[in-house]
Amino acid sequence: MSNPVIDIIVGARPNFMKVAPIIKALEARKAEGGPLRHRLVHTGQHYDARMSGDFFDQLGIPAPDVNLESGSGTQAEQTAAIMVRYEKLLLESPGSVCLVVGDVTSTMACAIAAQKLHVPVAHVEAGIRSGDWTMPEEINRMVTDAITNWFFTTSETASDNLRRAGIGDERIFFVGNTMIDTLLANMERLRPPPFWDELGLQPGGYFVVTLHRPSNVDAAASFKRLLRAIGEGARGLPVVFPVHPRTAKTLEAVPGLPPTIRFVEPQPYLEFNWLVRNARAVITDSGGITEETTVMGVPCMTLRDTTERPETVTVGTNEILGTDPAALSGALDRLFAGKWKKGGIPDKWDGKTGARIAAILEDLLA
Ligand code: UD1
Repeated sequence: MSNPVIDIIVGARPNFMKVAPIIKALEARKAEGGPLRHRLVHTGQHYDARMSGDFFDQLGIPAPDVNLESGSGTQAEQTAAIMVRYEKLLLESPGSVCLVVGDVTSTMACAIAAQKLHVPVAHVEAGIRSGDWTMPEEINRMVTDAITNWFFTTSETASDNLRRAGIGDERIFFVGNTMIDTLLANMERLRPPPFWDELGLQPGGYFVVTLHRPSNVDAAASFKRLLRAIGEGARGLPVVFPVHPRTAKTLEAVPGLPPTIRFVEPQPYLEFNWLVRNARAVITDSGGITEETTVMGVPCMTLRDTTERPETVTVGTNEILGTDPAALSGALDRLFAGKWKKGGIPDKWDGKTGARIAAILEDLLA
């Protein structure tokens, strides 16, 4: 009998840190004579070095075995291109399982293509829900989980969401958070970006901002109001804003940006998390970053109305402020008054999740 082959799908920036520990764990078991093999498939959703290649280099992820080079487009164009190309790959050379992570377009597109060819789907970071159907990621989560065979979850809340949807316990595995495996494995390797000295940054003496959700950045007028509130609220401290390509497009149309906000390129993993670890606080509309700030104990303000990661609020350092700039000032008052919560670490966010997933996959497939 031939060895089972797991297709590991990556497409966009937040996927890379989630698969790195799974690949390491699968390679370790293979070296010990384990039966599982894997094939790394990059859909090409993110293609810039700064959004993709840098992460492979820094996290020691092997070069993809296949690159589908799907590229940019509307939601439907991207989904369709990835499905057509991944289906072709599966028809030519079928994998035994399709393992997808997170909630990006590549996650959903490959899950659909695989399941329609009767290739079972494993979803890492399954079951999380914001309830906000205006976010493409929420649609991706719901569609993916509707056709997933094996669910790997980051929290009991996520497992409960799946149970409520009628999924049997034998298919749900609460394993923890692979993104945190990557963070803990790299904590000692974090390093300052080249502009650290040039901008005069000091530990605890600046803010990090990331915003790229359509609801915050696609309309120039409201984006400008948000930036002004951040610039004023930071009380003279520098604000470092690594700019996602989507955000860059709107920024071009926003004149008169606050001078204390320093816009920089998207940062590689080690530099970005150095900036986060040493920041006074992080202001973001990302989901993944709220998990990293929780583990590093850095105050985090989320400019969204919902979160699919409630443990970052109930256990961690995160607060959901909404998208109205007015909400920021109260939060910043509390921060500067030294009244931000300290937070703790969610269960099983311990750096061992990749190994748990590899062991379970071996049980399921061998
Ligand atoms: C995607 C994910 C989002 C994740 C984000 C992180 C979906 C639905 N969303 O959003 O969950 O938080 O990635 O980065 O999958 N672009 C480049 N270079 C690249 C990649 C994209 O210039 O390497 C441009 C695209 O042409 C497009 C824009 O950036 O105009 C948005 O890219 P896209 O992949 O559509 O979605 P993101 O907003 O990046």
